[in-house]
Amino acid sequence: MALNGRHGDAHCRGFINNNTFPTVVIFSISLATLESCGNSLVVSTAQGPNAYGNLSLVQIGNISGYIDTPDPPTIISYLPGLLYKFSCSYPLEYLVNNTQLASSAAAISVKESNGTFISTLNLLLYNDSSYIQQLSIPMAGLTLKTRVFAAVKASNLDRRWNVLMDYCYTTPSGNPNDDLRYDLFFSCEKDPQTAVFENGKSQMGRFAFEVFRFVKHKNQKMSTIFLHCVTKLCRADDCPMLMPVRL
Ligand SMILES: *[C@@H]1O[C@H](CO)[C@@H](O)[C@H](O)[C@H]1NC(C)=O
Ligand SMILES: *[C@@H]1O[C@H](CO)[C@@H](O)[C@H](O)[C@H]1NC(C)=O
Ligand SMILES: *[C@@H]1O[C@H](CO)[C@@H](O)[C@H](O)[C@H]1NC(C)=O
Ligand SMILES: *[C@@H]1O[C@H](CO)[C@@H](O)[C@H](O)[C@H]1NC(C)=O
Ligand SMILES: *[C@@H]1O[C@H](CO)[C@@H](O)[C@H](O)[C@H]1NC(C)=O
Ligand SMILES: *[C@@H]1O[C@H](CO)[C@@H](O)[C@H](O)[C@H]1NC(C)=O
Repeated sequence: MALNGRHGDAHCRGFINNNTFPTVVIFSISLATLESCGNSLVVSTAQGPNAYGNLSLVQIGNISGYIDTPDPPTIISYLPGLLYKFSCSYPLEYLVNNTQLASSAAAISVKESNGTFISTLNLLLYNDSSYIQQLSIPMAGLTLKTRVFAAVKASNLDRRWNVLMDYCYTTPSGNPNDDLRYDLFFSCEKDPQTAVFENGKSQMGRFAFEVFRFVKHKNQKMSTIFLHCVTKLCRADDCPMLMPVRL
């Protein structure tokens, strides 16, 4: 069985996993090589609630195709042919959930919402505006007012997609739904110490903010800050339409 009739192409064929019962045939469809096996991608734009429940324009990618058995080289056959049609719908919006700022920016997870292009988005921290040296956080924590340069970066994506940060905020706990939060920027609203350098124009969104402490941590030597960004992938041509506009 192969994707979209590409029986001659090894990477379009499924591979058999007999470690499960019943045995399954697994097909791999990656965003970067989507069309090479004849899958189709249709992107539509719809008004919908974003990851934070606010209404905004979100793009939805619909990937479709079929899986079938090759036709035998004869006029008739007594073997049944198989044809599976499939389609998967992906909202192109994610919550990039960073670990705490007081340790390093290592473990990162992308919230899954009904199918995601997982592991394509990373939230990284750098020490200055050159975005070369990743931020290392001293044992005693960062000094208040230190400028931290953050980037939401896409990898394994082909050129047609850009990264658009919708909403970046911080919480004192690792729970992205924590009631206590401090917004760095949301659409055109931003904290006065936050600067957005690049958004929706490339595969990297960049912004900077200044280190603060959560007042509720006043009895602790260090205040931990967790950084979260609600991020969209948009087709390069469509990003300007999805950018917030100041009325
Ligand atoms: C799985 O099944 C295939 C086809 O029958 C066989 O070639 C392969 O060796 C099997 N692999 C394992 C790990 O059993
Ligand atoms: C959208 O977000 C803003 C800023 O966080 C908030 O004030 C507003 O109530 C939200 N609107 C809705 C409909 O959730
Ligand atoms: C996705 O595309 C397939 C094939 O064109 C179509 O059958 C399906 O309804 C679409 N799904 C959505 C959610 O638009
Ligand atoms: C995925 O989306 C469909 C249609 O929007 C919905 O019916 C389904 O419950 C969702 N599944 C999950 C796991 O969120
Ligand atoms: C960031 O790190 C680089 C390389 O270690 C260093 O040259 C640069 O001065 C640092 N920038 C700041 C603002 O500390
Ligand atoms: C966000 O990250 C924190 C810290 O790693 C983790 O405990 C939490 O489960 C993550 N939340 C989501 C929704 O991914």
